[in-house]
Amino acid sequence: MPTDSNLPIGVFDSGLGGLTVLRHLSKRFANEDFIYLGDTARIPYGSKSPRTIQKYLAQNLAFFTRMPVKAVVVACNSASTQVSLVNSTVPIYDVITPGALRASITSKNSRIGVVATRATVMSECYPKEIHKLKPGVQVFQQACPLLVPLVEEGWDDDPITNLIVYRYVSPLLTANIDTLILGCTHYPILKNTFAKVLGARVQTVDSAESIGDLIERDFQLHKLPVKEAGTGGIIRLFATDISDTFETLAKRILGPATIVQLELAEI
Ligand code: DGL
Repeated sequence: MPTDSNLPIGVFDSGLGGLTVLRHLSKRFANEDFIYLGDTARIPYGSKSPRTIQKYLAQNLAFFTRMPVKAVVVACNSASTQVSLVNSTVPIYDVITPGALRASITSKNSRIGVVATRATVMSECYPKEIHKLKPGVQVFQQACPLLVPLVEEGWDDDPITNLIVYRYVSPLLTANIDTLILGCTHYPILKNTFAKVLGARVQTVDSAESIGDLIERDFQLHKLPVKEAGTGGIIRLFATDISDTFETLAKRILGPATIVQLELAEI
């Protein structure tokens, strides 16, 4: 366990969608400092092969050895599929393990749906993790490649997006799921759209909240050192490419009043 409790927590994503996870963690652990890294130069990961995602993940984790952190949260679901192959001296949190755990607790009828990128669906990581916890559960997966571009375009509250979400989730509704894992950083932004389409019978599981539960547990078990009180809350945002649209997306996720200053990361 790293001894320096004052080190920040690293949060990594393929782009800016992982700010949904940072937003949740920075509110929940308001005294902690955070360093966010978005690999905006190489997004999307969700359409790439496991080998490429693995290489990118290793390079991005190396950034956090130069910018020391006490733990790294891999907010990106597609990158989380490769975390088990990583060697690291600091704890690495993926979003799949806690999402699977929360979904298996939430589901009452043992029928769980997963919406995610193609890379996450192909990896079978969610079904494997859920079956480790509850072997009898049936898992129904749906890749939703159109949703990330729609969110990035700002069309999160749009009839076209509603229709596309409906098209993606209707086979899952036919399969009678009672729980749906939003297995991609961008999907919590579409939470209201999912709720409308799913109706009250289906609960959604958001990676951001699930990863917070796991970190909280590790703080309590002293597996991860808590930052000393009264010093905190510094957030630094890094990206591997800075375009004119980053500020719009970052403000939509973090809130319009947020001052967004992105620093360029060399990886
Ligand atoms: N961050 C990715 C994920 O959660 C979505 C965007 C991408 O395809 O890189 O899977």
